[in-house]
Amino acid sequence: MLVPDALTRALAVSSHAVILTGSGTSAESGVPTFREARTGLWARFRPEDLATPAAFERDPGFVWDWYEWRRGIVATVEPNPGHTAIVALERLLPRVTLITQNVDGLHQRAGSANVIEFHGNIMRSKCSIEHCSVDISGDADRRPPPCPNCGAPVRPDVVWFGEAIPPAALEAALAAAAGCDVMLVVGTSAQVQPAASLAGHASARGAVLVEINLEATPLTASADYVLPGKSGVILPALVESLRDADDLRGRTG
Ligand code: OAD
Repeated sequence: MLVPDALTRALAVSSHAVILTGSGTSAESGVPTFREARTGLWARFRPEDLATPAAFERDPGFVWDWYEWRRGIVATVEPNPGHTAIVALERLLPRVTLITQNVDGLHQRAGSANVIEFHGNIMRSKCSIEHCSVDISGDADRRPPPCPNCGAPVRPDVVWFGEAIPPAALEAALAAAAGCDVMLVVGTSAQVQPAASLAGHASARGAVLVEINLEATPLTASADYVLPGKSGVILPALVESLRDADDLRGRTG
């Protein structure tokens, strides 16, 4: 994969880069995406049965079991070269803010320390009424387990359709999008708001917008660079190009 020199330069001189990831970033680890034909979760399941507060109220056991199944997948997979390359970018560049729509915790497992989890994390659970964090490790029999404080059903700590983004995550992501000079948008179909609009905010303030994806998305037309392909291939190539540029500077400087 040949990275355009101008993109390498833009990254090399950036003072604040933002990386916005979606489920495509975890696809090469074996975590299903959402909207891809045939394999995407929303091609096989109806979001209104599984990812809304009303669905949980109607049938908490069904929703809980589906998330148990997804937790099982996440527990058996490993971060891929795309996740690892993001950690390398965090070390190579002066400032990187990582915003993920993914709920699988793979960025953290790869070594990214400061991850803005825009849509929560399926490995965490919370009370469906009080929203306090609940450790579910002790109650494997009840599906879902009851909140130890109030007895209400416990739910996954993720953002469902119709729910607000956690305020701290939203505020941090908006500030990063407004202040960055480069934004990499990786493995997201850019169809879910407000996550997708972060790219528009960044680009409107002059940031260089880079899209890494297998397919075109609503963001493609406004991207300054479109790198088509797998994030597990392209992100390591970006890291290599930065290292090469660094070596060159070292040799000539
Ligand atoms: P989608 O399934 O909508 O989009 C996945 C994108 O990743 C597609 O555009 C694919 O082309 C691309 N892709 C797949 N494999 C890739 C690879 N190896 N390298 C690069 N790109 C690849 O998933 P998201 O955009 O993440 O919300 O979906 C956004 C939100 O919708 C999710 O966070 C989830 C869902 O409903 C919640 O859970 C709240």
